[in-house]
Amino acid sequence: MRILSGIQPTDSIHIGGYLGAIKQWVELQSKGECIFFIADLHALTVPQDPKTFSQKTLETAVELLSSGLDPEKCVIFAQSQVKEHAELTWILNTITPIGELERMIQYKEKSKQFKDSVNVGLLDYPVLQAADILLYQIDSVPVGKDQAQHLELTKTIAEKFNQKYGKTLKVPEALVLGIGGKIMALNDPLKKMSKSSPETCLFLFDEPEIIKKKIMTAVTDTGKTIKYDLVKKPGISNLLTIYSLFSGEPIKELEKKFAAKGYADFKKHLAAMLIEKLEPFRRKKKELMQREVYIKEILERGRKRAEIIAQATMLEVRQKVGLLV
Ligand code: ADP
Ligand code: TRP
Repeated sequence: MRILSGIQPTDSIHIGGYLGAIKQWVELQSKGECIFFIADLHALTVPQDPKTFSQKTLETAVELLSSGLDPEKCVIFAQSQVKEHAELTWILNTITPIGELERMIQYKEKSKQFKDSVNVGLLDYPVLQAADILLYQIDSVPVGKDQAQHLELTKTIAEKFNQKYGKTLKVPEALVLGIGGKIMALNDPLKKMSKSSPETCLFLFDEPEIIKKKIMTAVTDTGKTIKYDLVKKPGISNLLTIYSLFSGEPIKELEKKFAAKGYADFKKHLAAMLIEKLEPFRRKKKELMQREVYIKEILERGRKRAEIIAQATMLEVRQKVGLLV
């Protein structure tokens, strides 16, 4: 089984991205052939500072390794270093109806958020994502719930290509978690925790004091009981989900454990548990941030391996479409 996923180097990794996606990536490393990449071309669809952008890509690589990805078990590379991603995007553009892209939720949200800089790349974002996946003949793509629509479109594009030019591209399946697939913002449990609004995030590498502050000020609900109820208690339900996924204790057990306790007590325990669980992540990141040469070597090794697969697919695509080879 071949597995692939990507993450943008837009900001530090938050616990939503970790619980919704990266935790699965770490577990899948020993179950299949895994390919993970840093989607730097995707990140360029919103404003970036050219002076610090490449450094952010390296920092994202450090954060992925600090979260448990093992370069001996999976391929890790930067998207822009494998030119075939851009090349396949162009070809897939020619079979993708504009209407399909205009109805993408992420496009609608981001074009509102960045209304002064809506560019063609922002609209074309899902086609580049389709190319990322289809280049590698992937079985399964572990992502958070917000990416499900892009994955559906990827399947549609693959099917359309195969219909038009003959069977060439593998049609992939999304792997989305039921619980954890959508972690909500601490300051607004009706909104997704998202890097594009850093104030909504608890970052995986936040220092203990910051963790404590963010958890203690997290928005909760009216009432007093610690109970999982998405409709009446979205705030507490989100905190219970986070507690359960980090500690491994089922939500039902947590409800029992905190039955006689109030919100403040529950939050204190949650903060203490998170500070302890995230300590090795912080330690590893500090260590790896000093080892730029090593990080670059890992990405270079990943690039070479990725390129072999991507080039083979691209050769077939070029032949099928009728380009000179
Ligand atoms: P963001 O959506 O915050 O910009 P990324 O785009 O870098 O974060 O997402 C990386 C991975 O984490 C994707 O698979 C995405 O679906 C997942 N993810 C992001 N935010 C959340 C969240 N709040 N809950 C669950 N999964 C998430
Ligand atoms: N769009 C994804 C996100 O924002 C990142 C991404 C880019 C991706 N290409 C991908 C995820 C291919 C899975 C497969 O999170």
